[in-house]
Amino acid sequence: MSSADFLKNMFGLDGLTAVVIGGTGTLGGSFCDALAGAGAHVVVVGRNDEHGNDRVRVIKDRGGSAEYFPCDATSRDGLESLVSHLRSTGRDANVLINGAGVNSPTPFLDISEEEWDRILNVNLRGVRLACQVVGKYMLERETKGSIINIASVSAGPPLSRVFTYSLSKAAVLSLTQNLAREWATKGIRVNALSPGFFPAEQNKKVLTPDRVENIMRHTPMARFGSPEELAGGILLLASPTAGSFLTGHNLLIDGGFTAMTI
Ligand SMILES: NC(=O)c1ccc[n+]([C@@H]2O[C@H](COP(=O)([O-])OP(=O)(O)OC[C@H]3O[C@@H](n4cnc5c(N)ncnc54)[C@H](O)[C@@H]3O)[C@@H](O)[C@H]2O)c1
Repeated sequence: MSSADFLKNMFGLDGLTAVVIGGTGTLGGSFCDALAGAGAHVVVVGRNDEHGNDRVRVIKDRGGSAEYFPCDATSRDGLESLVSHLRSTGRDANVLINGAGVNSPTPFLDISEEEWDRILNVNLRGVRLACQVVGKYMLERETKGSIINIASVSAGPPLSRVFTYSLSKAAVLSLTQNLAREWATKGIRVNALSPGFFPAEQNKKVLTPDRVENIMRHTPMARFGSPEELAGGILLLASPTAGSFLTGHNLLIDGGFTAMTI
């Protein structure tokens, strides 16, 4: 077997459909590119039509297959419409990525009810809803599926200034393990991917100069990640071959951030 065939067998996603919620964002966009590059049809899901349509155009220009489906990650009706759309086009949901997320740099005592609800609504409730609605569809179709929930290094030992966000991501890790346990014998693998620090839309207010300095001091590689550096991890977790015995895992891609203290 040639090395190209070996890699295609190991990581290729030809004929599979990947649903990327938050595919409109910085990291989500790179997940879409990686999945389409490996041969999947990508459904870019989000609430920013311009970014969604741009992502589809980029993928198609490179010879890949993609479509945009507008949907708010916190809307059960919206997610049900997404599943109806998949059903009507005869597509399974072989891969589901929950990558929508919001953040806010608020100190603990200043957290308002509005902010608490807004962050937990997208980062946690949205993940639970998509796992329920799209996961149910996977079960119904007996799909050998892979769910990838995007958590964060902030789910671990506390980071300053992102209190609600960190809690939401810790809960996503727990949800991931619980669901992995629940669906392990039903053919659906459920894993988390936890990025370290990647400049993006949702964290631009958080990345003040003093914070960037702190992050660099605590990242052994002493740099930010680039979104495409998450591609290998996504393909490992998504692939029914390379990732076949992986479930309940939290894959950290963080330049060593969680591997050191001081
Ligand atoms: N950038 C980082 O350093 C980093 C680190 C760890 C984890 N993450 C996580 O990675 C994921 C992607 O974030 P990003 O950094 O690319 O940020 P981003 O702001 O570029 O992307 C987030 C996307 O989520 C979408 N979104 C927000 N609320 C939504 C909703 N209700 N319905 C549908 N879409 C919604 C936004 O429109 C945006 O397209 C998030 O879960 C984030 O928490 C990012």
